[in-house]
Amino acid sequence: MSGRTQLASIPPASPPPVLTIRDLGFQAPALKKRATGQTILQNLNLNLREQEFVSIVGPSGCGKSTLLNFIAGLLPVQQGEIHLAEKQPGEAYSLGYMFQQHGLLPWRNVRDNVGLGLEIQGVAKRDIVERSQRVLNDLGLTGYEQHYPAQLSGGMCQRVALARMLVSSPDILLMDEPFGALDAQTRVFIQELFSHYWETHKKTVLFVTHDLAEALFLSDRIVVMGARPGRIVAEYDITFPRPRHFDTLRTSSRFGSLLNQLWQDIKSHTVTGGQRDA
Ligand SMILES: Nc1ncnc2c1ncn2[C@@H]1O[C@H](COP(=O)(O)OP(=O)(O)OP(=O)(O)O)[C@@H](O)[C@H]1O
Ligand SMILES: [Mg+2]
Repeated sequence: MSGRTQLASIPPASPPPVLTIRDLGFQAPALKKRATGQTILQNLNLNLREQEFVSIVGPSGCGKSTLLNFIAGLLPVQQGEIHLAEKQPGEAYSLGYMFQQHGLLPWRNVRDNVGLGLEIQGVAKRDIVERSQRVLNDLGLTGYEQHYPAQLSGGMCQRVALARMLVSSPDILLMDEPFGALDAQTRVFIQELFSHYWETHKKTVLFVTHDLAEALFLSDRIVVMGARPGRIVAEYDITFPRPRHFDTLRTSSRFGSLLNQLWQDIKSHTVTGGQRDA
């Protein structure tokens, strides 16, 4: 049964996590002289196990993107520690990052946008074409290789951005509201596509979303962040069998009750000290 678990609990037989976050804290710089900066994150603890799909949900402004930026190394750690395990001695697990905005280069076609990272790494042209094609096929973009971003729908641009992240085969995917800008119908289409991709390739994923149904549909575990200061306040193991189908799942009573519990959890951690984030 899916359900709420003890915070940061790891069954003794579990393999060691690929990502360990211990007591992460972040104090934003003060805006005025002699003022104290706001505490954005405090004592945040989180583990991510190999091939686990974990979603982070929580009120706007609680520090979800900041957390991902710390993990990606875009912000230097001030307090606490972030430990990325080694795949083998001397080789750390690699990270891929996908943002809410696709950020495709308008002057490059689909194939060249997808292959950009590999090009920068100096991968041979033939390999780039072959690898890009494979991931474009997986994401249903066959036939669009020569199109430019302006010729694609929002959903297609998002799929190209997904392909751009996946083409370099990162071990851990950091995804910050990747489908947030899409209309409901396109969103479900991409969620099903990505769920199928994940069930085939079993990547380790840390996925930020505001869409609780999306989190329930995709995840093995959902962690809830509370606001001010941002920290993990609840965890849910999501054990719906796979492969999952959105229409079947969303009409189940278990899905409905988990959705409600998650919503109540988030609501109860949104208002702190009379402050509400918009
Ligand atoms: N480098 C920084 N300097 C100062 N403040 C920062 C910095 N990075 C983040 N913050 C602050 O941290 C808070 C959390 O921001 P963050 O973008 O991580 O929230 P979020 O949970 O991702 O919100 P949303 O759900 O709206 O995307 C915000 O108040 C933001 O202004
Ligand atoms: Mg954010």
